Amino acid sequence: MNKKTVKDIDVRGKRVLVRVDFNVPLDADRKITDDRRIVAALPTIKYLIDNGARVILVSHLGRPETDENGNVTPDSVKKFNLDPVAQRLSDLLGKPVKKASDCIGDEVKAAAMSLQDGDVLLLENVRFYKKETKNDPKFAEQLASIAELYVNDAFGTAHRAHASTEGVTKFVPGVAGFLMEKELDYLGRALGNPDRPFLAILGGAKVADKIPVIDNLLTKVNSLIIGGGMAYTFFKAQGFEIGQSLLDEAGIELAKNAMKKASDLGVTLLLPVDVVVGKEFSNDTESKVVPVDQIPSDWMGMDIGPETVKKFTEAINSSKTIVWNGPMGVFEMPNFAKGTRAVAEALANADATTIIGGGDSAAAVEQMGFAAKMSHVSTGGGASLEFLEGKELPGVVALQDK
Ligand code: 3PG
Repeated sequence: MNKKTVKDIDVRGKRVLVRVDFNVPLDADRKITDDRRIVAALPTIKYLIDNGARVILVSHLGRPETDENGNVTPDSVKKFNLDPVAQRLSDLLGKPVKKASDCIGDEVKAAAMSLQDGDVLLLENVRFYKKETKNDPKFAEQLASIAELYVNDAFGTAHRAHASTEGVTKFVPGVAGFLMEKELDYLGRALGNPDRPFLAILGGAKVADKIPVIDNLLTKVNSLIIGGGMAYTFFKAQGFEIGQSLLDEAGIELAKNAMKKASDLGVTLLLPVDVVVGKEFSNDTESKVVPVDQIPSDWMGMDIGPETVKKFTEAINSSKTIVWNGPMGVFEMPNFAKGTRAVAEALANADATTIIGGGDSAAAVEQMGFAAKMSHVSTGGGASLEFLEGKELPGVVALQDK
């Protein structure tokens, strides 16, 4: 990575504003159901504590509603405050974490100024102000005013040009944290200088959403697997009937173009050869395995079939770098999770660098117990996708070059 990191700066005694992505899922009782993003930020936070910095953490959580003046609504304060995060972070660090009731203003300033070396202060949800997502310069200046250094460790939000991810760097020097560095190194190496053969596995529902990724990856990979809901649009593009399966009508032409591009570039494009179809969209519905050109008109595709699993596993076993984004079927339903599980298991056992894009695939490998066996599980869904599209991430561009 060509950006400075916390290691390139003397942080001792400095007030350091650290943008983290603590946008974690909560249940109805506001209990955190998956704390991976908090755990992933610990190396940077601990490094700063151990090196005598005064740590000020800033994050968003969810997408709170704001009123006509751009201030958060009382309902959203209840739903999206960072209290549960402060508690979990304090448990994980084994030390108290002070929690501010705002992210800007006099009280926050006073709390920041009274920090001692090694203290940790968590600011309230930065999206409680509309000015955050608007990247308002005055708001960014206010955020920056309490710090002498800015660290961006929020890879999951690096694709957003917001005040706390981009604007703030105009007022205080910005460097990367360790999570940001790790994410960019893994994804960057895969796209820039992969051990070959390089295989990408894409799933998900809408072809249109994935076309920029497919387009970019086709110029980099040796093979590309298309699975999940998107595959049915490719079948349709090949002239097969797909019954009640998911169809992205507008994606048919895009799928045709992608197939042509793959063939022009000499990339092996692998599509499912058989699928598990169900009568209805429910876990307990009647189901059977059929070849992809024989999907009955009143059934719908819900998962990849056993022949496809074999074929995809062979491709995985003969690759040296594998990037995976998007499940192979309706993995939330246990009866249709077999294909996703098999791909996850093959990746876990592969003698290759395995990189899991964030979002659903990361949730799937975590839930199925394979996460520890992957080379890297990204904490960014949208961000890793935009990176794979070949886009520059504004939150990264804004940091100081080495
Ligand atoms: C995410 O969950 O992908 C990030 O935290 C970004 O959240 P956003 O899509 O609401 O900007």
